[in-house]
Amino acid sequence: MSELLSTPFGPKATADEVLAGVDLTGKRILVTGGASGIGGETAAALARAGAEVTVAVRDPAAADTLVHRADREGWSGQIRACRLDLADLTTVRDLARAWEGPLHALVANAGIMALPDLVRSTAGWEMQMATNYLGHFALATGLLPALRKAGAARVVAVSSGAHRGHPIDFDDPHFDTTPYDRWVAYGRSKAADVLMAVGMARRWADDGITANALMPGWINSGLQRHLDLKTLQAMGGADENGNRIDQPHYKDLRQGAATNTLLAASPLLEGVTGRYFEDNQESPVTADGTGDGVAAHALDPGNADRLWGLAQAALP
Ligand SMILES: NC(=O)c1ccc[n+]([C@@H]2O[C@H](COP(=O)([O-])OP(=O)(O)OC[C@H]3O[C@@H](n4cnc5c(N)ncnc54)[C@H](OP(=O)(O)O)[C@@H]3O)[C@@H](O)[C@H]2O)c1
Repeated sequence: MSELLSTPFGPKATADEVLAGVDLTGKRILVTGGASGIGGETAAALARAGAEVTVAVRDPAAADTLVHRADREGWSGQIRACRLDLADLTTVRDLARAWEGPLHALVANAGIMALPDLVRSTAGWEMQMATNYLGHFALATGLLPALRKAGAARVVAVSSGAHRGHPIDFDDPHFDTTPYDRWVAYGRSKAADVLMAVGMARRWADDGITANALMPGWINSGLQRHLDLKTLQAMGGADENGNRIDQPHYKDLRQGAATNTLLAASPLLEGVTGRYFEDNQESPVTADGTGDGVAAHALDPGNADRLWGLAQAALP
């Protein structure tokens, strides 16, 4: 195992701090779910550093505020929006086909968490796995020609510490025979995101493409929309009156976007691939999935190849 990569940035560094002095003029970057939450702050920081950022969202009008902010505040880069529903692979294919020119970085950021009931995508996959993983897999593989064109493109897979306790169940990945559990489903989808980066690192290195995964930290955002108040309170994310509160270890959105921007655009990550980061540092491996860091099952090349095969078979 090579030495863990460390950077000068602490856990509460902001995306702007990570990109200070980095000029992204001429770089074209796609951020899924880039109109709000961590994705919105990721897109903003990248555009402030000069990148031409496309935010891919279910409702492109949701990006209007960001587009206007870019104009009003005179960001050196720009923001544009396009339509994407990760759970509908036809919209994914349409976006990939319509993309012209190089793509320097894809930030696979959009996500959903803890859907109370088992829902399936149009492809028949469990909805969190379909949105958080399969849609991004389809998007990245569809955009492969554009990533190749960039010369040294990067894929950033936004995962979560929730991946650790939930290896993919290859016998029943979509809860056909085992009872649905919303946290298991979320955790597996986030393990799949790490495995996606590992699979890309194994296949696309000769094209100069790197792929890494990350945990952004704990951030109060729209992600918790499917949690009832009792659950949110038990997690420490809301007070007794239902107001959202930040625990000391929580990050704000600008801090939550920092590791995204580090992986997408920092020179410190040049040539680095197939790894997992948290708090702007590479994480150690935890063999049994407990504690902090990245679980061994999520970095396992055999699991990555097996999942790659499943996803490829699901593409239209
Ligand atoms: N917040 C945390 O504490 C935390 C911790 C660990 C990992 N993460 C990860 O960080 C990422 C960003 O989360 P966040 O906290 O910023 O949550 P958020 O505020 O809910 O943002 C998620 C974004 O994903 C988009 N999205 C959801 N379903 C989509 C679909 N089918 N197609 C396209 N876009 C879709 C949403 O767009 P709409 O506006 O269309 O819904 C939204 O812009 C997620 O991958 C999440 O798992 C977050």
